Amino acid sequence: HTARFTLDPAFTIGDVNPRLFGSFVEHLGRCVYTGIFEPGHPTADDKGLRQDVLDLVRELGVTAVRYPGGNFVSGYKWEDSVGPAEDRPRRLDLAWHSTESNRFGLSEYIDFLRKIGPRAEPMMAVNLGTRGVAEALELQEYANHPEGTALSDLRVSHGDKDPFGIRLWCLGNEMDGPWQTGHKTAEEYGRVAAETARAMRQIDPHVELVACGSSSQSMPTFAEWEATVLQETYDLVDHISLHAYYWPENGDIDSFLASAVDMESFIENVIATADHVGARLKSKKKINLSFDEWNVWYLPEWQAHAQTVTDWPEAPRLLEDNYSVTDAVVFGSLLIALLRHADRVTVACLAQLVNVIAPIMTEPGGPAWRQTTFFPFAQAAEHGRGQVLDVRVASPTYGTKKYGEADLLHATAVRADDGTVTVFAVNRSRTEALPLDVTLNRLDVTRVVEHSALADADPDARNTLDDPERVAPHQVEGTALQDGRLTAVLQPLSWNMIRLG
Ligand code: AHR
Repeated sequence: HTARFTLDPAFTIGDVNPRLFGSFVEHLGRCVYTGIFEPGHPTADDKGLRQDVLDLVRELGVTAVRYPGGNFVSGYKWEDSVGPAEDRPRRLDLAWHSTESNRFGLSEYIDFLRKIGPRAEPMMAVNLGTRGVAEALELQEYANHPEGTALSDLRVSHGDKDPFGIRLWCLGNEMDGPWQTGHKTAEEYGRVAAETARAMRQIDPHVELVACGSSSQSMPTFAEWEATVLQETYDLVDHISLHAYYWPENGDIDSFLASAVDMESFIENVIATADHVGARLKSKKKINLSFDEWNVWYLPEWQAHAQTVTDWPEAPRLLEDNYSVTDAVVFGSLLIALLRHADRVTVACLAQLVNVIAPIMTEPGGPAWRQTTFFPFAQAAEHGRGQVLDVRVASPTYGTKKYGEADLLHATAVRADDGTVTVFAVNRSRTEALPLDVTLNRLDVTRVVEHSALADADPDARNTLDDPERVAPHQVEGTALQDGRLTAVLQPLSWNMIRLG
């Protein structure tokens, strides 16, 4: 009943792009308002940014931060969100049936990123739902052109002398989804994405562009959508996007625990589709993957709520999922799936950052705290940097309704530039500990630095406002490295980080 694999530096997947640890701030519920931005909060700075949240965002280790949506972007008028805050218009946000005050806008977003620190990078989406090429160009000029034109001078007059330097841009959001304002067919979207990309490159040939892929692998148009969109945009974009959310459908926890099986097949199918288009076009170029929305999300709860909303509240409590230990183990497994494909997944965004299906929660006027999902992300963002080693597990399996027999062990390993190695591993068994036996070939490591695990006698344990530190990782004793063999025992339903030095 032991799970095994071998690590050898000769067999690698690829380098981890720091952008793999991106996140997402959408104008949705309380992600922005009373999340990252709350003028008057005891910790708010002169711009209204909550310092308690900023501290947690830095600890989380996020890099690229996608903004301003999400579904929100398909009704976004960027010009509403710049200039003196008191002059900004209030608008209906159709995506989330809310009222948008525009008190937080483009300049505040850039200020937020700069305050996170040098690892943070903007990832801006343009509206290709209700708008098009012209507005994308205007936003790009306002944001990035140094000065001396109407729009760049407008930015300077708003107090932002330095251009924002936004390099990474999303060409719309989930345009395959019937719920999207301005939803399009693949042909329609492929054309407008190509036109927008071509024009944006006329301003700056070095922008990096993400074309919309599918909103999930289960979309009826999946794969055909990617093929059609990439046929139009192949030479003009750098990435195709993927989105996926997982929850225990009909309470089926065993299938839920194996959600990464779907995520890995989704990634592999998008690679196959993109490479097929490349082959058809006789192109040497490879399109990379931007997994720019991923998480555990109890989606049916939102869908039920959406049926009942009739008013237009400002910053309502929406999508405020409270994550259990089980959710964090699935979440960790999704991170492992991304790392295992680091050669092609070069951008990924945890959706979202604060309050909305988020690792960080806040109370208006009150504290901020870490959800269970905070820990796997923070550990991977800190130690999952370097080269991903090829991990092929031989693992005991268990039966799932959705995916058939699934491995109990899900794992990856990353070798840092200094030669240290970090193994990330999940035991999907709800009842049994899983012995792990890893053969280390030609790796210059001699000791276990730490074995940290997230597991709990109560798999439903969570962190809440009343008990914000109920769940946290703990150190595991007994993990050993001797004569090139790493041995450990993974607790039932656990996320593990084993660092070797
Ligand atoms: O992250 C929440 C929503 O999920 C996003 O706005 C949308 O793109 C996706 O459907």
